[in-house]
Amino acid sequence: MPTIISVASGKGGVGKSMVVSNLGLLLSRKGQRVILVDMDIGGANLHILFGMFHPPSTLTDFFTNRTTNLEDIAHTLGTPSPLRLIPGTGETLITANLQHAKKKRLIRHLKKLDADIILVDVGAGTSYHTLDFFLLADYFLAVATPDPTSVIDLYRFIKLAAIRKVLTAFLARDPIAEALLNKDFNSVTEVLEAVGRTSESGIALAEQALMGFQPALILNRMTPKARINTLHLRHLLKQYVGTDLSVLGNIPEDPLVQQSILKYLPVVEFSPNAPAALAFDQIAENVLKLVKQPRTLPETPEEPRKIRA
Ligand SMILES: Nc1ncnc2c1ncn2[C@@H]1O[C@H](COP(=O)(O)OP(=O)(O)O)[C@@H](O)[C@H]1O
Ligand SMILES: [Mg+2]
Repeated sequence: MPTIISVASGKGGVGKSMVVSNLGLLLSRKGQRVILVDMDIGGANLHILFGMFHPPSTLTDFFTNRTTNLEDIAHTLGTPSPLRLIPGTGETLITANLQHAKKKRLIRHLKKLDADIILVDVGAGTSYHTLDFFLLADYFLAVATPDPTSVIDLYRFIKLAAIRKVLTAFLARDPIAEALLNKDFNSVTEVLEAVGRTSESGIALAEQALMGFQPALILNRMTPKARINTLHLRHLLKQYVGTDLSVLGNIPEDPLVQQSILKYLPVVEFSPNAPAALAFDQIAENVLKLVKQPRTLPETPEEPRKIRA
């Protein structure tokens, strides 16, 4: 079964698709069979980054049942190392109101793809679609720039994803809790309080749901002054979401990135010695280390972590 890695950012325009395209190419160069999936509904453009202007088929074909096999829409890109892309879909009625069953079907099919690593660009925003596509993964990457609005949007995204993850765990267990979906929660604690006044088993279940949820941060367009924001973000997430964040790497602000995009090539291909390309080399190594390390998720946490509102 492939390892699924989702890449999110909360805010758009911070370099998420650029990260997905470069990481994908580097991981394929390192011998991994990689498929990129563009789940940025309404803003799908990964194909453009590779100079594929008219994809022969896209996720729309899958959602409308024109194609039943995801493999058929995983197109080989013209990159030196074999890399495939499942192009995204436009903003259509069917995608805007994507039924749960269609999402489930997509997730089932993704897990059956013939690949080692699937990199999912989940798009911007905090809609249920985006959160659910993000949470379907085995590993979570988050991209932010030093811009305070990007940091805050990422914080909001991870907070909502954590709440959604905990809620889903309760929903899977207790159909009556379906009503919870219609409520607005600001924190994991509020969810816990709504579910049985934080009973012992409720806390344990929430803890368990969050146990494997440790997004790794990629900082893009870095400048030396950015450090303080990162620390702040990590602190906020630890304190208010109960989830830890590791930093996978920093990509510098680099004009060669913009030039590479104009040439429809990932910067690691366009200019392998560019500062951004060198940073990607290190990040790709770190991604490989991350997916290769054994993940031990205890049945029940030994000591409940503090989750505060
Ligand atoms: N490290 C960087 N240095 C310079 N420009 C960058 C860098 N990363 C991204 N950009 C610019 O930001 C734009 C948006 O990137 P993109 O990957 O499309 O963002 P997103 O997918 O998050 O919306 C790119 O077209 C590029 O011009
Ligand atoms: Mg994008």
